[in-house]
Amino acid sequence: MLKSLSLFLLLTASLNATAQARREYVLANDWKFTKGDVPEAAKPDFKDAQWQTVSVPHDWAIYGPFDGNNDLQTVKIEQNNEQKATQKAGRTGGLPFIGTGWYRRRFTVPQFKKGNQAVLLFDGAMSNAHVFVNGKEVGYWPYGYNSFSFDITPYLQASGENTLAVRLQNQPEASRWYPGAGLYRNVHLIVTEDVHIPVWGTYVTTPEINSASAKVNLKTQVERPKGNTQALRLQTEIRDAAGKVVATVSTPLASGQASGQEFVQNLEVKSPKLWSPETPVLYTADSKLYAGTVLKDEYKTRFGIRSFKFEAEKGFSLNGQPRKFKGVCNHHDLGPLGTAVNTAALRRQLALLKDMGCDAIRTSHNMPTPELVSLCDEMGFMMMVEAFDEWKRPKVKNGYSQYFDEWSEKDIVNMVHRDRNNPSVIMWSIGNEVPDQSNPEGYIIAKRLQDICHREDPTRPVAAGMDRFDDDFKNNFAQVLDIAGFNYKPHRYPEAKGKLPQGFLLGSETASTVSSRGVYKFPVEQVKQKKYRDNQSSSYDLEACSWSQIPDDEFVKQDDLGYVTGEFVWTGFDYLGEPTPYDEAWPSHSSYFGIIDLAGIPKDRYYLYRARWNTQKPTLHLLPHWTWPGREGQTTPVFCYTSYPSAELFVNGKSQGKQTKAPSDKSQSRYRLMWNEVKYQPGTIKVVAYDAQGKAVAEEEVKTAGKPDHIKLVADRTSLTADGQELAFVTARVEDAQGNLCPDATNELQFAVKGQGKFRAVGNGDATSLELFHEPKMHVFHGQLVAIVQASDKAGDVQLNVTGSGLKAAQVTLKTK
Ligand code: GAL
Repeated sequence: MLKSLSLFLLLTASLNATAQARREYVLANDWKFTKGDVPEAAKPDFKDAQWQTVSVPHDWAIYGPFDGNNDLQTVKIEQNNEQKATQKAGRTGGLPFIGTGWYRRRFTVPQFKKGNQAVLLFDGAMSNAHVFVNGKEVGYWPYGYNSFSFDITPYLQASGENTLAVRLQNQPEASRWYPGAGLYRNVHLIVTEDVHIPVWGTYVTTPEINSASAKVNLKTQVERPKGNTQALRLQTEIRDAAGKVVATVSTPLASGQASGQEFVQNLEVKSPKLWSPETPVLYTADSKLYAGTVLKDEYKTRFGIRSFKFEAEKGFSLNGQPRKFKGVCNHHDLGPLGTAVNTAALRRQLALLKDMGCDAIRTSHNMPTPELVSLCDEMGFMMMVEAFDEWKRPKVKNGYSQYFDEWSEKDIVNMVHRDRNNPSVIMWSIGNEVPDQSNPEGYIIAKRLQDICHREDPTRPVAAGMDRFDDDFKNNFAQVLDIAGFNYKPHRYPEAKGKLPQGFLLGSETASTVSSRGVYKFPVEQVKQKKYRDNQSSSYDLEACSWSQIPDDEFVKQDDLGYVTGEFVWTGFDYLGEPTPYDEAWPSHSSYFGIIDLAGIPKDRYYLYRARWNTQKPTLHLLPHWTWPGREGQTTPVFCYTSYPSAELFVNGKSQGKQTKAPSDKSQSRYRLMWNEVKYQPGTIKVVAYDAQGKAVAEEEVKTAGKPDHIKLVADRTSLTADGQELAFVTARVEDAQGNLCPDATNELQFAVKGQGKFRAVGNGDATSLELFHEPKMHVFHGQLVAIVQASDKAGDVQLNVTGSGLKAAQVTLKTK
C-alpha cells in the first residue's frame, strides 16, 4: 500500500529492523511551486520559501483566469475539412498552461542503507519534465501523458535531506485540447533492496482458460548489482478477491545469473472466476523474492482471468460471449478540477457511465492515469488505451511530431509495460487520425508501432482510429492493423468490410453530436455546423458537425452489421477546449460533444444511450422542459428516450397519440419516440410507457415551473473517507415552490463549507462561462450546477451551505470517517 511520506515519518519510530523489503510512498504534500523559469531552482540550497505551497497532483493552470489570448491558435484544422486558417481562442480551454513551472520538495528516505535502490516514478508530468535530485539532473521525459521512472540511487544522500526539483515546460500550439499543466499525476518514491523487482517488473498472462481451471503464466524480472550472482528463489501465491490463496509456486534461480534475469512461473487456478464488465473479479499474484532466507523483495501484481477474440464476420467476443463495445471516448481533464488526478472524481465519472450501460472507455488520445485503469479493472470497463494523436506529420505546430522519431518506441514500451497486467485493457491504440494515413509510407510506421506492442505484449491486438478512408485503403494503412478503427464512417462500413482482410471493424470514434444541457432550439431540425447567437447547441440531439453524425445514424449500422464490433462515442464527458462548432467564437472554451456536461450532469442524450445500453434497468425520459412563456400555441416537439417499445404522450391530460419504435427504420424513429406537432401550453406533459404486450408499465411527467423559490441540494454521497482526497459532488438545483426545476434560472449561488472539509470547486456545464471553478460562487446554468466538497483527513461533519439572493438557502451535512 502506498502511504504519504509524511505519514510514514510518523510511523518510522515503531518499525523494527525487519521492516518490509519494499517501501513505497506517494510524494503528495509540501511541494513548493512557482510559475516561470528559475534555472537556479535545481540547486539544493535555493531558497523557495516565497514559492506557493501546493499538494500534488496539481494543475497550475486550472485557476485561470480564462483569456482568449492564452494559446491563441490561428490554424486550419485539416481533419475538420477547413479550407482556411482562422483564429481559435478557446481551442485549448483559454487557460494559462503555456510556459515554464518549477516544483521543489525536500524528502528523506528513512532507513536508506548502502545497497538500497531508490526510484522516482512519475505517473505523468505536463510536460517536458527535467528531474533534478540534489542539484543533478537525473532524467528527462518529454511526453506529458506517459509514466516514467528514474533510478535516483547515485544522487541520494544516505542520511539527511534530499532535494527534488522538477522543471516543466508547455509550448504554445502543442495541443488540440486542454492538456493541463504541472505535476498533475502522482509522484512515487520506491525504495528496494539491492536485489529487487524493477518498476513494472512482472507480466502475467492467462494462456489457457476453461471452466475447470486457468493457467497463469507469470514472468518476473530481477535486477541486481553488477557482480551479484547469488542464488535466488521466487515464491508466488495467487489470492482470490477474498484474499484466499488459490495457487502457489516456488521457483529457484541458480547462482551465476546476471541482472535482468527473468523468473518464469506457471500456476493453475481451479474453477476460475472470469473478469468481465458485469463481473469484474480480480486476483493478485503476491511474489516474494528470497536470497537464502533473506526476503529481498515483495511485489504484488493484480490481474484478471478472461479471454477474448476478434473474428472475421463474427466480430468481438469476451469469455466466449459475443458483444459489441458500448464505449465512450474521454479526454483526461476532470472539468472544474482540471487535470489534477483525483480517484473520487474518476470513480464518479465511471459510476455515471456505468448507470448509462457503458462498458468501454477509449483514453483519447493518450495514456491514461493509472488510477483510471485500476478503477476500470474494479468497476468493469473494457479499455482501449491510446498512445498518440500524431506521429511524424503534425496536426499542431509544436505537437508530438517533434519527439516522434526519438521517443515513440520508449513511449509505447512504458505504456504497454505499465498496463499489460490490467484485465480491463483489451486493446492498444497506436494513434488517432494521424496525418501519416496520407503518407504512402505511413503504414510502415503503423506496422513498426504495432510490432512494438506485439513484442511487449503478444496478447492484445492493436488498433488505430482512422478518418482518411480512401487514403487508408490506398496506402495499405487500414489493412495492416489488427483492428481497423474508423472515426465517423458508419455510411462506409459495408465498403470497408469488402476491402478489409480482417473481416471485422470498429467504430473507434462515433457521433460527435453537439448539445448544451437545458438548451432547446426551434424550429427543431436535423442540421450540421449550426451556430446560434448564444453560443449553445440544441438538446434535441439533432445537431452534429460536417464530418460527424447524430447517435442514431451510428446505431443503425451497429445494429444491422454483425462484423461491426461496437462504438466509442465522442465523448462521454464534456472537456476543456475544442468548443466546436464555436471554435472561433470566444468565450466558448469547452466542448459541446459530451453525453454528460462539464460539471458531470447528464444531458438528454445520456438517456438515449441508456435506453439502448443499460439492459438491466428501464429508461423513460422526456424532453424538452415545459416552461416556455411566450411559446403558447407554438409547435414544441416532445421526444421520449426510453427502453420501452412504445409510449403515449398527454398534454394537460389530452392524448397526443401513441408512438412505437420502428425496428426496421433507418433513422431516429427506430430509437426515439417523437411527437413533432405538439403545441405548447403551460401545464404538464406526461408520457405513459407500454411494454411489448401493450401493458402500461411506467410514467414520467414534466411540469411548467413557477418562479425560483429555493435551492435544492443533492449529494452524490453523504459519507466520505477522511483521507484529505475524497470528494462529494453536490448538485444544486433552483426550484419553484412545488419542487420543479426552474429550467431558465440563472441565479448566482454562494458556497460556504464548515467542519472537516473544504470547498474544492464548482462547475455549471456552460461552455461559455468565464467564472472561475475554484471560487465559491457561480451562476446556475439552466437551473443547475455542481459544487465539489473535499474531505479533510480528520473524521467529523462537513457542512455545505448554499445561498442565493431571493432564494431560500439550503444546507447539506456530510460525514467524513
Ligand atoms: C475527431 C478527433 C477528436 C475530436 C473530434 C471532434 O476528428 O479525433 O479528437 O477532435 O473529431 O468531433
